[in-house]
Amino acid sequence: MGSQWSRDKVYLRAKHEGFRSRASFKLIEIQDKFAIIRRDDNIIDLGAAPGSWLQVLRTLTDGRVLGIDLNPIATLEGIDTIEGDLTEPVIQQKALEMLGSVSVVVCDAAPKLSGHKSYDQARAIALGEEALAFACNVLKPGGNFVIKSFQGVDFPELLGQTREHFYVVKTYSAKATRKGSTEIYVIGKNFKG
Ligand SMILES: C[S@@+](CC[C@H](N)C(=O)[O-])C[C@H]1O[C@@H](n2cnc3c(N)ncnc32)[C@H](O)[C@@H]1O
Repeated sequence: MGSQWSRDKVYLRAKHEGFRSRASFKLIEIQDKFAIIRRDDNIIDLGAAPGSWLQVLRTLTDGRVLGIDLNPIATLEGIDTIEGDLTEPVIQQKALEMLGSVSVVVCDAAPKLSGHKSYDQARAIALGEEALAFACNVLKPGGNFVIKSFQGVDFPELLGQTREHFYVVKTYSAKATRKGSTEIYVIGKNFKG
């Protein structure tokens, strides 16, 4: 994280409240607005490191919470983690075995940026499609899904694919997102199964 961001208000508030990153507030906003998580949900968080969404999720459900990331996630009480690639079927299988049944999948994963806007956007959309496939493989009917994406030429395609699998689909630009970012969240409710 560059020094440009390290002193901004959202970052400082996250640190003050004990969250591992400013991303925590985006999930809090999404839950306040869309009520995607219920008290007994088992939840998978894709692209979960360093773990601030996991911290929020732990407060929202009494069910099991599992975080998956390419990078290690420092221990959080009451949370399971897998270090691995969300696109690999073996990781998806392992996640399902660990949780048994899954009612919510959230995904804040983002590929490393190259600086080439259209290339980065295409890779982000491709990762989003992988996350959607993951969710469709593990979710039980009626389950909910949240995914981070980026607005651009390929975004409507991802939105359309999400609509094929969920009865209700909304988009949301979080207030905690940095100004000028094209970041947008897709919320899919009520998985068709
Ligand atoms: C913005 S961070 C997530 C922040 C997190 N929501 C939090 O609150 O702490 C994006 C993460 O996506 C992860 N990621 C990117 N591609 C991935 C993949 N194919 N499989 C698993 N994780 C991935 C990165 O390693 C990175 O940690």
